[in-house]
Amino acid sequence: MESTPDKAQQAVKVWDISIRLFHWSLVVLIGFLWWSGTEGVEMDNHVLAGYTVLGLIIYRIVWGFLGSYHARFINFIRSPIKTIKSIPDVMSVHSDSHYVGHNPVGGWMVVALILILLAQGFSGLGTTDDIFIDGPLVPYLSDQWISRLSEIHLLLPDFLIGLVVLHVAAVLFHDAFKRERLIKAMVTGVKKVPLSMAQSVRQSELPAIRFLIVVALLSALGWWLISNFG
Ligand code: HEM
Ligand code: HEM
Repeated sequence: MESTPDKAQQAVKVWDISIRLFHWSLVVLIGFLWWSGTEGVEMDNHVLAGYTVLGLIIYRIVWGFLGSYHARFINFIRSPIKTIKSIPDVMSVHSDSHYVGHNPVGGWMVVALILILLAQGFSGLGTTDDIFIDGPLVPYLSDQWISRLSEIHLLLPDFLIGLVVLHVAAVLFHDAFKRERLIKAMVTGVKKVPLSMAQSVRQSELPAIRFLIVVALLSALGWWLISNFG
């Protein structure tokens, strides 16, 4: 959904509380995972934090289908052609329009971040440092698979950091030059839209019952996996 700012504005709920907790938990956990992994310290907690990131990412994928309006993939993933066509507008400092949810380019960045974190987390399950720490799937995998997954786990962080740097640079660009206040919205969940279009903009309230069912089912799955393979 696109909007053109005018003077009279109304607050719209754009990120439900679960998206905001998901996001800021990721920031803390990835920071810790990067530090502990590269320094080779706190590796027991590295594994725990890695499981938590995997859980968060799987939650986010499910929420991308069942979640609040602006969290759903269908409401922010645009076709490659539409995405390419949106680039001049998204990048232009002078353009008046801005987006209520993720813009088309940002939408693909979200997909890339989710996929790389999924790959990093899953590869960790079959990674070993050959000394102290084995991922839980190591006893079940052939040596060839273990060395492949360990290589992937050591290689992907460079790409992850590259994506995160791009992501943060884009967010700062929108905040500083386009005055879109994206960071504030990821903290408060609220964005301002012109009064004239507030009626047609969908609010992203947390659907509480659906949220509780999704969290209960995923927690049960996580508990079962950790008790059987962790
Ligand atoms: C998305 C979550 C994760 C991130 C971002 C992450 C990040 C990292 C990083 C940056 C390293 C150091 C790579 C290097 O030395 O160049 C590392 C090493 C390692 N990680 Fe993870 N990790 C994650 C999840 C996991 C999980 C779930 C496990 C196991 C269950 C795991 C097990 C390991 C092990 C055993 C090493 C040491 C490998 C070695 O020293 O050869 N990681 N991780
Ligand atoms: C490890 C670092 C980070 C990762 C992995 C990450 C990942 C993500 C992901 C997956 C989303 C999509 C949220 C969703 O729809 O569920 C997102 C959005 C967002 N992130 Fe980050 N992020 C990181 C760091 C940061 C930092 C440091 C900031 C602030 C400076 C930031 C600001 C934002 C904002 C404002 C959005 C919403 C963008 C929009 O309105 O389209 N992120 N981030």
